[in-house]
Amino acid sequence: MGDAAQRWRERQAARGIPAAILAAAPADPWVHDPAAFTPPAVPADTPSHRAARALAERSAALSCSGASVLDVGCGGGEAAFGAVGTEPSPVARVVGVDRQADMLAVFAAAAAERRLPHATVHGDWPEAAPRAGRHDVVVCHHVLHNVVDLPPFLAALTAAVRTRGGAGGVVVEMLPEHPMAWLDPLWGRFHDLHRPPSATAEDAVAVLVEELGTTPEVRTWQRDRRLPHDARWVTRRLCLPADREPEVARELAGIPPRRTDAVTLTWSP
Ligand SMILES: C[S@@+](CC[C@H](N)C(=O)[O-])C[C@H]1O[C@@H](n2cnc3c(N)ncnc32)[C@H](O)[C@@H]1O
Repeated sequence: MGDAAQRWRERQAARGIPAAILAAAPADPWVHDPAAFTPPAVPADTPSHRAARALAERSAALSCSGASVLDVGCGGGEAAFGAVGTEPSPVARVVGVDRQADMLAVFAAAAAERRLPHATVHGDWPEAAPRAGRHDVVVCHHVLHNVVDLPPFLAALTAAVRTRGGAGGVVVEMLPEHPMAWLDPLWGRFHDLHRPPSATAEDAVAVLVEELGTTPEVRTWQRDRRLPHDARWVTRRLCLPADREPEVARELAGIPPRRTDAVTLTWSP
């Protein structure tokens, strides 16, 4: 394993919650609420969605048939439906992969509502990759910071691209640092837990270059979508009981707000 992959591994491993804190948590701090991931009826016009749509258009033009989009860690499918965009769409089919079955239900319902042929694959990436097949466009939004062993995860994203005439590609969206890094001062305050620096988007790019020989196109931009950050949500993330919420609210007021910049990485095999 090269230096960049090792750095990613160490920084991500250090994001774990110690077993004693987790055992005392009144609610699972990790699990995502699928309702929060219902994709908007009209996708936001973002660099990631535009990049995926452009790849789909290129693939559809070359193959004279609609493009297929694979969404890895799909949640409700905001990334896939962002590539679909407005009609007429170059996307003919979407496939969602997620380790949470309830997310796949939201994804399938959203695809059915849009009358879009679809399939779901329940499982962990990259182990689930053989069941997902190959597609013109592979999108993966806000999943990398869940991953410790990044090289096989990224390699499987690239390998899932169907290279018809070199038209397809991968679009990854992530935050510049771990989505919970802004709460590090509160882990210190409430649990005396002092975390090392977060893995960054630059670290992910370094892994791509080092392990796959791939230099992605990198775009940094501002998201307008409201990110969860209220005291109730943070109390749960910090493994604290609900009656600590007022204290959490006071401490939250004293730390820098959650960052709103996002990074889009695009590459073709
Ligand atoms: C923060 S959510 C993002 C969902 C969606 N991509 C979006 O941007 O709205 C992360 C999703 O990835 C899923 N996930 C995380 N790691 C995964 C893995 N290794 N394999 C499959 N799904 C994963 C989680 O269950 C969750 O639904």
